[in-house]
Amino acid sequence: MSTRKRVLITGGGGQLATDLATAFPSMDTIVLKRGQLDVSRKADVHAAIQHYKPNVIINTAAFTNVDKCESNDGIAQSTNSYGVRNLVQAADQAGAQMVQISTDYVFDGTLGRPYIESDITNPLSVYGKTKLEGEKAVREGDLLVRTSWLCGTHGSNILKTIIALAQQDKALTFVNDQIGHPSFTSDIALVISNLIDVEAKGTFHVTNQGAVSWFEFAQTVLNSMGRSPAQVSPTTTAELRPPRAAVRPANAALQNDALQWAGLPLAPHFQETLPRLVKDLCG
Ligand SMILES: NC(=O)c1ccc[n+]([C@@H]2O[C@H](COP(=O)([O-])OP(=O)(O)OC[C@H]3O[C@@H](n4cnc5c(N)ncnc54)[C@H](OP(=O)(O)O)[C@@H]3O)[C@@H](O)[C@H]2O)c1
Repeated sequence: MSTRKRVLITGGGGQLATDLATAFPSMDTIVLKRGQLDVSRKADVHAAIQHYKPNVIINTAAFTNVDKCESNDGIAQSTNSYGVRNLVQAADQAGAQMVQISTDYVFDGTLGRPYIESDITNPLSVYGKTKLEGEKAVREGDLLVRTSWLCGTHGSNILKTIIALAQQDKALTFVNDQIGHPSFTSDIALVISNLIDVEAKGTFHVTNQGAVSWFEFAQTVLNSMGRSPAQVSPTTTAELRPPRAAVRPANAALQNDALQWAGLPLAPHFQETLPRLVKDLCG
């Protein structure tokens, strides 16, 4: 039997999981898509963990459609909250470390500076509330990673939406009053693998660097595509029609304080990675 460590990744069809799948060359990696493991099904979770006997479980599975969570709070809770509890219980029995991926949306966005790991949480949406319940399910020795505004080459995300609309010469409108850190799954996967390598415990904010509004992000994407940033216009959250179902934090900037304290490399500024990603996606 192999003596290599084993990492099991849930939510395997998602954008972050797809990049995590190749982030552990020194470990055996098991990637389970929702069809192979539904984290809300306790018995299935226990059976899978007993079968694969992983040393590390990374839970990326989540109901991530923030607006749909508002009208589907049962599914949000069973996935984002009970799913984590099921995995933690199974990890406990198997002696595995748990790595839970969480979100900037656990904060209310009213702070006048970027959020550090120990700041008080106060989610505004069903998504944020159920993700916070998931955070509370992890054990002291586990690793909790909060990230934000995820985009990558896999799955659907705002970057792909901006590129598609721009290529159709559509006029774009984005809010200028919600600020956060665009984060790229390839960069975030690398930082998560570093954290697992050093057996980090506790809460870490892991994002690309650089805080912008959605409007500024869209302008930067257009620039990277060689298009005029004038194709995008600013608006405010209050002016959005129809209004979004879920309330989002105005300030969702996450300071990567714990990573700095641990002396670990941060993910680069988002503008360093963006041109390569735009090139891949426009390709
Ligand atoms: N996307 C963001 O901007 C963002 C920001 C901050 C934090 N996060 C967190 O980062 C993590 C990864 O996000 P992502 O953007 O990679 O998400 P994603 O692309 O939406 O992937 C999530 C995956 O979870 C799966 N899933 C849903 N319910 C499940 C269940 N009950 N059991 C097993 N799998 C289930 C989904 O399957 P289906 O496709 O079949 O539904 C999907 O493949 C999530 O925990 C998310 O909350 C995301």
